[in-house]
Amino acid sequence: MVARLEAACDVERFEGDGGMTHEALVAAVAGKDALISLITDSVDRAVIEAGAGLRVIANVGVGYNNIDVAAARARGIVVTNTPDILTDATADFTMALMLAVTRRLGEGERMIRRGDWHGWALDQLLGMQLGGRQLGIIGFGRIGRAVAARAAAFGMTIAHTSRRDAGIPLDRLLSTSDVVSLHVPLTPETRHLIGQPELARMKRTAYLINTTRGPVIDEAALAWALKNRLIAGAALDVYEREPEVHADLMGLEQVVLAPHLGSATTETRTAMADLAARNVIAVLTGEPPLTPVP
Ligand code: DGY
Repeated sequence: MVARLEAACDVERFEGDGGMTHEALVAAVAGKDALISLITDSVDRAVIEAGAGLRVIANVGVGYNNIDVAAARARGIVVTNTPDILTDATADFTMALMLAVTRRLGEGERMIRRGDWHGWALDQLLGMQLGGRQLGIIGFGRIGRAVAARAAAFGMTIAHTSRRDAGIPLDRLLSTSDVVSLHVPLTPETRHLIGQPELARMKRTAYLINTTRGPVIDEAALAWALKNRLIAGAALDVYEREPEVHADLMGLEQVVLAPHLGSATTETRTAMADLAARNVIAVLTGEPPLTPVP
């Protein structure tokens, strides 16, 4: 990505885990034509106002809830994201989480590492088989559909809710599914889409998977539901206040916790970075952006 950019423009790089502070980002955008942002960068009104010369903000991620798109558009700044190329990696990882939580992989691994495994036993860490179970997919876009195709290969039946096509009502999906997987973007409408009432509607034997954005689930409500055995388990890749994880979730055996790895394959992350660079170059050279946000 950097080589591609350096061939086309002057590049200032900011590195380090956890990203830049907001203050540093505000200072850095002054006088720049383009910004390549990560999903951990809050590109809010203050950043956009400080970047008076910005022509494009290229987010490395399909989600762009970290960007004030309306403020950018009001200033004629193009905003781009990286759809499609991370669909397979994220759908694969959703299946990894689904298998991990239903087959109690985390519990088993912790048992071995503690030195508590004393050999095979007929009734040890029994889990739930996916075949024949219903997967409820909330949000039936690219990633939701890719998860459905994978789950069908495991013998699952699929139910979905969607803004675009019929699907089934959310209440019915929650009360009939054995696994519920979230694939809606984070918007004001989807914040805390899954809270106490929704969790209470799920089967006591059901599992909840989240690979989209943490705030789609009310994390405190989820911890409450798990502690009170209202659902059987959860597997999370994303959290309300990353990198913080709700303290009550940390001690629960029936929860699988991953550090936002959905798209984390070398191939996918390389393609995401490259697409962001190509979006910047397109806009700066007067071409239409490849993947503007809708
Ligand atoms: C995205 O692209 O929005 C992902 O969360 C990054 O892995």
